[in-house]
Amino acid sequence: MTKVTFVEANGTEHDVDARNNRSLMQAAVQNGVPGIDADCGGQCLCATCHVILDEQWYSKLGTPDADEEQMLAPTPERSPTSRLSCQIQVTDELEGIKVILPEFQM
Ligand code: FES
Repeated sequence: MTKVTFVEANGTEHDVDARNNRSLMQAAVQNGVPGIDADCGGQCLCATCHVILDEQWYSKLGTPDADEEQMLAPTPERSPTSRLSCQIQVTDELEGIKVILPEFQM
C-alpha cells in the first residue's frame, strides 16, 4: 500500500492507502474520492480522471504518452502538469504524493 493524498479544489484532503500495481484512478474510486468519475473505466478514452500534479511529481512520473496527451488536450483546466490518473500506476515510489482534483470535475 502507498499513501496518496487527493486534494479537492477547495482544499479538502482525502488520504488513502492505494494498492500498488493499480492506477491512481482506481485508488480514488475505491476510496470514494469525489471528482474522479472514470467513465471509461481506465481505458484512456474519457479524461474524467484528470488530475494535476506539482512539478516535482510530474517530473518524476514522466510525460503523458500520445494517447493520453490527445485526451488531455481539450480538457478544461488543462495544466502543464496535468495527467490522467488512470495512466499512473501506484508504486512505492509514489509514497506521499499529493494529487490535485480540477475544480470543474467536482
Ligand atoms: S478513466 Fe477514462 S481516461 Fe482515465
